[in-house]
Order: sequence, then C-alpha cells, then structure tokens
Amino acid sequence: MTVTRSRKKIRFSLGVDNVLSYLSEKNIIDPAQLSEATIQPKLCKNFNLIIEISDQEKLLLKQEPFDETGNVKGDLSREWCIHQFGQQCPDFSFLKPLISQASFFDTESSILGLTYLINYDDLETWYDTQLTYPPTLAYAVGSTLAKIHRGTLDQVSAKTFLSRNDRPSTRRSREHPDFIQSLGQVTPETFGEVTEDGLKFYELLQRYASLEQAIAQLTPLYTPCCLIHNDLRFANLLVHHQWQSQAREHPEEDAAPVRVIDWEKWRWGDPTFDLGRLVAEYLKRWLRSLMASQDVPIEQALRLATTPLEQVQPSIRQLVRGYWHQFPEVTQRFPDFLARVMRFAGWGLIESLRAHVYYYDFPGNVGICQLQVAKSLLCAPDASMPVVFGEDELRLSDTPAIPPLPAPPLPAIEE
Ligand SMILES: Nc1ncnc2c1ncn2[C@@H]1O[C@H](COP(=O)(O)OP(=O)(O)O)[C@@H](O)[C@H]1O
Ligand SMILES: [Mg+2]
Repeated sequence: MTVTRSRKKIRFSLGVDNVLSYLSEKNIIDPAQLSEATIQPKLCKNFNLIIEISDQEKLLLKQEPFDETGNVKGDLSREWCIHQFGQQCPDFSFLKPLISQASFFDTESSILGLTYLINYDDLETWYDTQLTYPPTLAYAVGSTLAKIHRGTLDQVSAKTFLSRNDRPSTRRSREHPDFIQSLGQVTPETFGEVTEDGLKFYELLQRYASLEQAIAQLTPLYTPCCLIHNDLRFANLLVHHQWQSQAREHPEEDAAPVRVIDWEKWRWGDPTFDLGRLVAEYLKRWLRSLMASQDVPIEQALRLATTPLEQVQPSIRQLVRGYWHQFPEVTQRFPDFLARVMRFAGWGLIESLRAHVYYYDFPGNVGICQLQVAKSLLCAPDASMPVVFGEDELRLSDTPAIPPLPAPPLPAIEE
C-alpha cells in the first residue's frame, strides 16, 4: 500500500487485503483461526492493523513505512529492543507489566507483533471520552514512569544491553540531544515541507531571542542516567478499564493500572525530560481548548478556555507527587528537580507545536499562546511553578492521594 505523507511517497508492506495470508505464511496464527479473524486498520503515526482472532484475543501489527529508496528508519527494531530487554534480562523483568507485550519482530518487513490488550484504552482516548481528570489516575501515571526510571537508574548492565542492541546509527548520536538542531533550521526545503502558515512558527521562534537561548541551555542541562521513553504523549500510555482497583490490589500483576507503550524513540536519557513532557500533555489540554479564532484577543481566549487550567492542575500536581513518591532519590540527584521539569515541559510544548506545524499547519492563536507558555517555562521555570501547579509551592512531601506502591530496593551500581 502506498501513502503520500508530507508530500513524500511511502509504502507499507501490509494492508487489509494481504495481512491474513502474511500471518498464515509466517505461522503466526493457526490457519483454522484465520477464517474467523477480522481486521481493523488503525492509522496512528504508523499504519497499524488490529487482527481480532476471537472476543478475547487480538493482535496488533505495527509496521513501518518504507521510503522511495526501500529503507525504513528502524524505529520498530528499536521498540523491539526494549521488549527484549524486559524479556531477556532477569534484573529488568519488572518492566514487563509496565509496558506492552510484544510477540515477534519481522526484521525483513519491519513488522512488530504485539498482544492487543483488550482491557486497556490509551489515555488520550480515555480523557477524550471521560472528559474528567481524576488526580489519582495522574498519580498512577507518575508512579509507573518513576518505576521505569528508578529501576534502570545508573544500571551499567542496562545501558550496555540497550546500546549493544541499538542500531549503530542512533547509538553514536544519542548521548546528548542537540535541542536547537532538532527543531530544524529554516532551509529552502522547509518552504516545500511546511505550509505558509506553518512558517509563522519559525518566524515567532526567531523573534524571541531569549527563547532560543533557553532552548540551547537544555543540552548541557540534560543528564543521561536511565532508560527514558522520550516520546511520552497520552496516546502512548494505556490505562486499564479497572485502573482504580488495579492500582491498589494487583500492583505487580499483568493487570497493571498504567502501561507505557510505543517505545520507538527510547534513549538512555534524562528522567526529568519524560516527566516534563507529560506535564506538557496536561498543559496542552488547556491550551488546545482556547478559542482558536484570530479575532479573539489572547486574554479573552484564555478566559474562555473550555478546559480551564484549574481543571488540569490537580492532575499535574498528582502526576509529579506520584512520580516523586516512587522515586524520592530524584530530588537528591537533581536538587533543581521541579525547575528542570518545568523547562522540559516548555520544550515539550515547543516540540509538539513543531510536529503539528510539520503535519498540519500553525494553529493560530492557540499556537501563539502555546509558544508564550513554553517561553515562560523555559526562561523563568521557578516563576512558572505556581501557574502550572496552581499552588504557591508544590510540597512534594504531602500525603499521597493513594498509598504509594512499595518501591523496589535500588539495585547496586555494577562496576
Ligand atoms: N498493546 C496494545 N493494546 C491496546 N492498544 C494498543 C496497544 N498498543 C497500541 N495500542 C493503541 O494503538 C495506538 C497506536 O500504537 P502505538 O504503539 O502508539 O503506535 P504508533 O507508533 O503508530 O503511534 C495507541 O495509541 C493505542 O491506542
Ligand atoms: Mg504512538
């Protein structure tokens, strides 16, 4: 199947018409079960396919696009690497209930097979349908992320396994990200790739000199010390339908309340980057609900938000508390923990705006508000805290909303 994306032609190996014969040829599904199977395409970042084998059994096939020269970026082989890490390294098997369950990777066709977890929804869909932001859910999200960071913190064996199994091209360039470079420079190609409206994003970025400086300072600030997801969005988190009871009653079982999925962009990185990115997700819920019209003054747009900031602030507070209760050492490691989270939240807002501009266009007033909030977070992180948390000071030692899950003992650092 061929698709045109961002004016480039890309090709996927599988479509609705040939997926069943592929599964049969590869002996992935018993041919007897295939006659009953139904197929549901799921177009996300990739062109994914859900194969319903029975009421209780579904398979998710993720496939990567091949470009015009017949190459893939290799993102799915990177995701497979994280699953192998959880499956093959006993010291890190704690990861298994915290991520999804992969069953095979077809290197040649770049197809990853995963168990489709029927008792979960992704958090983006959950918030879209429930239209409520329970702070306890955000607490469970923070706590889950902290387990992954804490469990791999300074673990040389983890770092060695992951870098050995990573693709050589990403291995070299991945110690410290260059934030300015990753924004992309305006080149003659940009004019071909981005709409005229989208160029406004680059224009505004250049207008704020202090913003560019603050972004450049993220590179020396960034401290790689554990496994991070590096692409945390609500759509990349799964929430169990019974998350409230799972959190208390079955913390270590398969039915984990929250799982982190879509590990294509993982890296050995800075944990405050991931947490900041999630804070940005909550802020985006507020920002995206602003009146989008160019004719509405920004002050009025802020007042008319259908998701007011006050609605997401309790979740932001509990997200950070849940994280810290599970990983209290993080504030010793990073005495400026909250300020770093603010800065990376600012970066998260800019990065998601850049992606929006690349795939769609510049979202008018909403985009301008998003950029201004990002600028405050990046240039004045301490002053931004009361705005983001909705309290003068976030006291991390406050009593948790739900009892914290027992933290595993910190593994020793290998020589
Ligand atoms: N194992 C799973 N069980 C249930 N739903 C899943 C699973 N993996 C992914 N999904 C759903 O499919 C969507 C896309 O999967 P993801 O791995 O994020 O792929 P992409 O790289 O295309 O974003 C997710 O946002 C989620 O809604
Ligand atoms: Mg995804």
